[in-house]
Amino acid sequence: PVLVVDFGAQYAQLIARRVREAKVYSEIVPHSMPVAEMLAKDPAAIILSGGPSSVYEPGAPQVDGKLFDAGVPVFGICYGFQAMAQALGGTVAHTGRREFGGTPLRVAGESALMVGLPAEQNVWMSHGDSVSEAPQGFTVTATSAGAPVAAFEHVAQGFAGVQFHPEVGHTPHGQKMLERFLYDIARIEPTWTMGNIIDDQVAAIQAQVGSAEVICGLSGGVDSAVAAALVHKAVGDQLTCVFVDHGLLRAGEAEQVERDYVAATGIKLKVVDASERFLAALAGVTDPEEKRKIIGREFIRVFEAAAREIASAGDVQFLVQGTLYPDVVESGGGTGTANIKSHHNVGGLPDDLQFKLVEPLRTLFKDEVRALGATLGLPEEMVWRHPFPGPGLAIRIIGAVDRERLDILRAADKIGREELTAAGLDRDVWQFPVVLLADVRSVGVQGDGRTYGHPVVLRPVSSEDAMTADWSRLPYDVIAKISTRITNEVREVNRVVLDVTSKPPGTIEWE
Ligand code: XMP
Repeated sequence: PVLVVDFGAQYAQLIARRVREAKVYSEIVPHSMPVAEMLAKDPAAIILSGGPSSVYEPGAPQVDGKLFDAGVPVFGICYGFQAMAQALGGTVAHTGRREFGGTPLRVAGESALMVGLPAEQNVWMSHGDSVSEAPQGFTVTATSAGAPVAAFEHVAQGFAGVQFHPEVGHTPHGQKMLERFLYDIARIEPTWTMGNIIDDQVAAIQAQVGSAEVICGLSGGVDSAVAAALVHKAVGDQLTCVFVDHGLLRAGEAEQVERDYVAATGIKLKVVDASERFLAALAGVTDPEEKRKIIGREFIRVFEAAAREIASAGDVQFLVQGTLYPDVVESGGGTGTANIKSHHNVGGLPDDLQFKLVEPLRTLFKDEVRALGATLGLPEEMVWRHPFPGPGLAIRIIGAVDRERLDILRAADKIGREELTAAGLDRDVWQFPVVLLADVRSVGVQGDGRTYGHPVVLRPVSSEDAMTADWSRLPYDVIAKISTRITNEVREVNRVVLDVTSKPPGTIEWE
């Protein structure tokens, strides 16, 4: 792999993704990892990322000089560039000239990193200190007003570095530079393609699982669907998937999993219709937290029972999970298998359920998972599906949940989704909840008569990661169409309102 050494900035994940976009596999490692351990991973190159600190701050992370003696190509970015300069005998100075944001860069002479790129270009800078003298044997290949040494390289040794951030979109030629480093300076072949990822993962799953039986809980979401498809490709009918229909799904969802997913993959699927049980447990409950607890608890019981039925028929030792790379990085890394304690990813599993985990997506980002799903032949609607909460429509009915209310919300939600798709806006929107204010009524007029119906709330949002969100500025004509259709086609609804709250202060869901 190419190792991206994380110096504590938010840029390491972005660098890792850009390297992967160049079809080279990359992994993030903490700067505290000893050099010997990095080298044990047999890296094709090492990239030192940006960081918030000055190399002169007490306790600032240093780069161990041994890193440069191993014959591994190294690319330093921003803080990593300065740390590299210092470790190799160059000079880093407080010039007092800060640069932040878009900054003109002048390419000085021949450069392997910037070959074919304009001599004058904009780059994204964010630094206080500057490299004032490059290490011996290095060529200075670019300068800016605030950084006399804005880039350097020593091609024979496979070393290069830049003061700016090539990984951000504000450096228009940044991706080209990364590619020049990877292909020309580090001499790495761009072979990390979806086809190869599938082959590697299939081999790894086969090695891990052997002839044992495997189960997977399908939520209908993209992660579990892709993980299961990959495991199925590896071990075929040793895999059984469990899909719990809790009766709180949207129109067509259970059918999509049962019909389209099975048709695309040929997976053995056990569908458990548990809607009676969930609705009975939820009867009369209006408190959002109580709803969530009840659903979580019932989910565990149903999944557990289904797993026991499958386990008694064979030798089930493995459970598939759709864990993604950001979860792994955020929880401090780690490799290998772990025993489950109580894992929320499958709705929470009991302590005494001892499966080994199969996590074929734990090296991938969400967009890579989608690309993988498409390559595996999963239906497009499944691959590009919007996130949908585990507790389902129960937390989109404000008030008690029952079948009648679920039917009303399902009908309104279906119209919203249909019109969003018809307008070609699915990929512009992160998700589009429709919420039923079941205990609210308002007066309306329809035909010749008075109506006294319920409002629904449209809650389209845009987001990167659901941590923050903004309300989507959908075109008014699309909103108008949705509103007209809902009030015409869903008898119980006589008013449609639009939620124009960002997150924070609102959350995406209403409960
Ligand atoms: P909020 O409402 O907290 O939602 O802004 C953030 C994201 O998480 C989803 N969500 C859930 N997903 N189980 C889930 O699997 C849950 O209990 C749950 N609650 C919220 C929500 O749809 C949004 O994408």
